[in-house]
Amino acid sequence: MILVVGGAGYIGSHLVKDLIKKEQVIVLDNLSSGHQQAINDNAIFVHGDLKNEFEYDFLFDKYPIKAVFHFAACSLVGESVINPQKYYENNVGSTLKLLNLMIKHKIKNIIFSSTAATYGIPNCKLIDEAVPTIPVNPYGRSKLMIEQILADYAKSYDINYSILRYFNAAGADVSGEIGESHNPETHLIPIVLQHLYGIREKVNIFGTDYDTPDGTCIRDYIHVTDLVNAHITALEALLKGEIKNQIYNLGNGKGYSVKEVIQTCEMITDIKCKIKIGERRIGDPPVLVASSKKIEEELGWKAERNLEQIIKTAWRWQQNQRY
Ligand code: UFG
Repeated sequence: MILVVGGAGYIGSHLVKDLIKKEQVIVLDNLSSGHQQAINDNAIFVHGDLKNEFEYDFLFDKYPIKAVFHFAACSLVGESVINPQKYYENNVGSTLKLLNLMIKHKIKNIIFSSTAATYGIPNCKLIDEAVPTIPVNPYGRSKLMIEQILADYAKSYDINYSILRYFNAAGADVSGEIGESHNPETHLIPIVLQHLYGIREKVNIFGTDYDTPDGTCIRDYIHVTDLVNAHITALEALLKGEIKNQIYNLGNGKGYSVKEVIQTCEMITDIKCKIKIGERRIGDPPVLVASSKKIEEELGWKAERNLEQIIKTAWRWQQNQRY
């Protein structure tokens, strides 16, 4: 039995859809940003908030939980600057509650969703896990704090973690049944596709004066299904005892600029995009591209889907969106 905290959210719901083929799954979610329709029908759903232990403590007595996936977090960089309290309480404080219960009930294994935002604005072209973590906003700091707490807990208690630092998660399940749905939407690919679908007036490019070939920011977009496969690979390795307390980057190793993403969306949809060039968005690093060599060498995982596949599946979801 596997507990997926935040299993109604974008990445969590995609994991549950695949994990359910191998394991029994319990989803714990407060539905603050997730969607109940996104949760696979075969999973057990518990509506509860991490900060209220009494809403989910019973799960650990009732079910033989082998491992916990922890996706539940606030993840908007800009909001984290305006309202850091929300980020430290929701992300750090609530995770402490979950970890307390894991220690109490002797649950060893946790797979934690972390982020490229832990690196801040790194001064290198390809980011590996040895690059110093100097986050530049409360969101990144809140995730790094949990990473550090996990490292300390693993030394003192019987905790075995796998930390996965995502670069830019994008795309949707190939079925078109589940996909990305944030409110408000801040991510580039869904914003461009919403515009091309006719439900958003234009696309703002946040800065064309970066030190990059076309002046726009470069990111490493990774298909959500590739992310899911990495999680399942990490789970299997944790449960077999093949890895202990490791951090892995998850990306494609290839960067695309904002303009390249927009052009690929135009090509796939065959619709022209209306663009407005705007100011830089505060806190955007010019280039973030992952080296995922470590997980490839240690666990044999590699991203298999490219930007076109990401945008094709995201476009199918946009046309078929149910929630
Ligand atoms: N962008 C635009 N216009 C938009 C939206 C985005 O030009 O309307 C640009 C951004 O400035 C950035 C790029 O497109 O250069 C990608 O932006 P996203 O918002 O899609 O993604 P981010 O790279 O900002 O954020 C991602 C994750 C965060 C994580 C961060 C790490 O979504 O959770 O990477 O830096 F913190």
